[in-house]
Amino acid sequence: MTRTVNIAILASGRGSNFKALVDAVRNKEIHGEIAVLITDNPHAGAIEYANAANIPVETIDFKEFTNREDADKKIKYLLDSYGIDLVALAGYMRILRAKELFDAYRYRIINIHPSLLPAFKGSTHAQKDAFEYGCKISGLTIHFVTDDVDGGPIIYQQAVDISGCESAEDTAERILREEHNAYKKVIDSFSKGRYLIEGKKAVYVRG
Ligand code: GRF
Repeated sequence: MTRTVNIAILASGRGSNFKALVDAVRNKEIHGEIAVLITDNPHAGAIEYANAANIPVETIDFKEFTNREDADKKIKYLLDSYGIDLVALAGYMRILRAKELFDAYRYRIINIHPSLLPAFKGSTHAQKDAFEYGCKISGLTIHFVTDDVDGGPIIYQQAVDISGCESAEDTAERILREEHNAYKKVIDSFSKGRYLIEGKKAVYVRG
């Protein structure tokens, strides 16, 4: 059985993952719809891609809120109003904090992190960290978002050989190519099954 997943994407920056997901929906590699882009950055590159694809954009101005929990409650309100099944963070640069949001969307919020977690957990420049550490292998992790930053149950990991990389940028580029391919497959997996959480493990069950 395949379901149509109603997806929200949260992005703050360049938006290459967002664009890859929009393309994957268009090519029917994802059985779902991107119902909304939510961003905290009015200049996010993702906005342009969303406009081109007629995807609604909701911009959260964090300055309007006295605390971050209230901003997250606004995000929850938006997710509820768009009838969202799955929330995918794609370069969203803020930490989600509101308990109300986690309670309502438990194990329905996912993130992509450009390292093999728990290596470089919590880093906003994990590719540079891996390059400067002299790692020969790094990679990507797609995981559920919990209040433990980059510490939620792992859905998918992929190693990337970075031994030939000559710069942090080269490393990031090599990992990013794999991110685009992996994220769409993981998101589509939600249309054909679900993840059971057993301790720290996410176990995929079809159907
Ligand atoms: C990606 O490397 C992603 O893994 C990380 O932030 C970056 C976002 O890139 N969380 P983009 O905005 O999707 O191009």
